[in-house]
Amino acid sequence: MNGGSNGVPRSNFTSAATPVPRHVAIIMDGNGRWARARHLPRVEGHRRGAKTVRMVVEESRRLGIRYLTLFAFSTENWNRPPTEVAALMQLFKRYLESEMDLLLKNQIRLRAIGDLARLPQDVQESLAQCQAATADQRGMDLILAVSYGGREEIASAARRLAHAVQKGELDPSQIDINLFSGQLYGPDIPDPDLLIRTSDECRISNFLLWQLAYAEIVVSPVFWPEFSKDEYLRCLERFSSRIRRFGLTDEQLAEFRQ
Ligand code: FPP
Repeated sequence: MNGGSNGVPRSNFTSAATPVPRHVAIIMDGNGRWARARHLPRVEGHRRGAKTVRMVVEESRRLGIRYLTLFAFSTENWNRPPTEVAALMQLFKRYLESEMDLLLKNQIRLRAIGDLARLPQDVQESLAQCQAATADQRGMDLILAVSYGGREEIASAARRLAHAVQKGELDPSQIDINLFSGQLYGPDIPDPDLLIRTSDECRISNFLLWQLAYAEIVVSPVFWPEFSKDEYLRCLERFSSRIRRFGLTDEQLAEFRQ
């Protein structure tokens, strides 16, 4: 994912004038609490959460959102009980296999960011198949962040640049925001305009630490399995009522928009 010059994300002045964000990122939180409140196993919350994923994907495409990034599994989530991790991996695999037709019908390209080599082999294979099958779709990019950690992403970008310097291919003075962004996962993806987190939690939790620099944050009180189309639209409405200044004054913004 990428920023523009001086770290102000590309096209933000145009997005300020449009009600629909170009890129929405979502931290899908509250599956476990939703299940606990119903005396159900946590995995049932994740299963219901997968249904919400389908709704959000279809609705995003319908609304003309160009990029949708979902935080499906963090590097820290590997420390959850092995049975829960295994169930989530099965759920991802099933999702990738069962949603392929829907993705193709809606011209959606599936992508993944994260330390994908840590995923079980069969999940890696399903991911590769789904990515290959949808690679030519240009209606919307659905980006699954799996085995993803923002700090790891930044550290691996720094490592790659350090190797290039060591080999004499790069001078440290050449390292700027754009060059650094180019080393992150998905360098062509514009920064998120909007971050939604469900279940009333107000944390970023190691998600897109670099890319969220100028994102508007909307917190929904609803647990992810109950996150409805109406609640999604309410979050988007809250985004469209925000004034994004990117460190500028109101007068400067007015000039940019003329
Ligand atoms: C956070 O809720 C959610 C996760 C760690 C997993 C997200 C996975 C899904 C929504 C399943 C389907 C996803 C795809 C892409 C098919 P939590 O378990 O931390 O909830 P809690 O904070 O209430 O315990």
